[in-house]
Amino acid sequence: MFSKISERPQFKVAIAVWSTIAIVCIWAILLGGSMAKVMAQTPNVTTTDPVPEQYQLGQSLYLEHCASCHIAIPPAVFPTETWQELLENRQQHYGVSLPPIIGPELITMWNYLQVFSRSLGDEDFGIPFRLEGSRYFQAFHPDVDFTNPISVDSCVTCHPASAQFNFRQLAPEWEVSRP
Ligand code: HEC
Ligand code: HEC
Repeated sequence: MFSKISERPQFKVAIAVWSTIAIVCIWAILLGGSMAKVMAQTPNVTTTDPVPEQYQLGQSLYLEHCASCHIAIPPAVFPTETWQELLENRQQHYGVSLPPIIGPELITMWNYLQVFSRSLGDEDFGIPFRLEGSRYFQAFHPDVDFTNPISVDSCVTCHPASAQFNFRQLAPEWEVSRP
């Protein structure tokens, strides 16, 4: 008269539902784990713009050659003409002489710097060689009233991840006041 409990249709449906939920949960946990791993492995290089694949080698070479004595300066803060002069006159670099860079590497770096900076405008007088004198640097800092002298060593006070070429992350006091 009574069938065995495991043979009742409701029981079978319940088993099917619960095993589906269990499979989905396990899958979600596994997927979540591997996603977190992938995300942890992806370097968080955040500058002002994402870098398309064809300029990534140029950026790596730039970081290799231009971030050993000071942090790498984001290309967008100087006009293209500044980068051109700096690459051409490597023997006279702010009182030091830069180690040689081979031709193909120089060209690849130059392509990257050129694309990620803008040319001088009509309103500019001469090529700026100091951040202080660069209109583009100022334009990136609408909310900042620079009281201390601006140097490559000072970026880190407000951009704690500047050594990783990340200028989006700001020190907490600036993060809060950001609109
Ligand atoms: C051998 C060390 C060294 C290397 C490598 C180097 N620099 Fe410099 N750089 C300096 C020194 C020293 C200064 C002057 C720092 C100062 O006076 O505050 C400087 C200053 C600068 C400044 C001016 C920053 C300001 O004060 O406004 C720029 C721009 C710059 N470097 C770009 C580059 C680029 C581009 C490269 C790669 C091609 C590079 N540097 C590689 C030593 C180096
Ligand atoms: C006194 C604090 C301060 C210093 C020092 C400073 N910055 Fe900034 N920077 C900011 C703030 C704040 C912003 C966000 C824009 C704003 O609110 O004005 C910013 C934005 C930027 C951006 C734009 C980032 C984006 O979101 O795309 C770049 C690039 C940048 N800074 C580069 C530099 C460099 C290079 C130096 C060092 C020479 C430097 N900054 C020094 C405070 C500072």
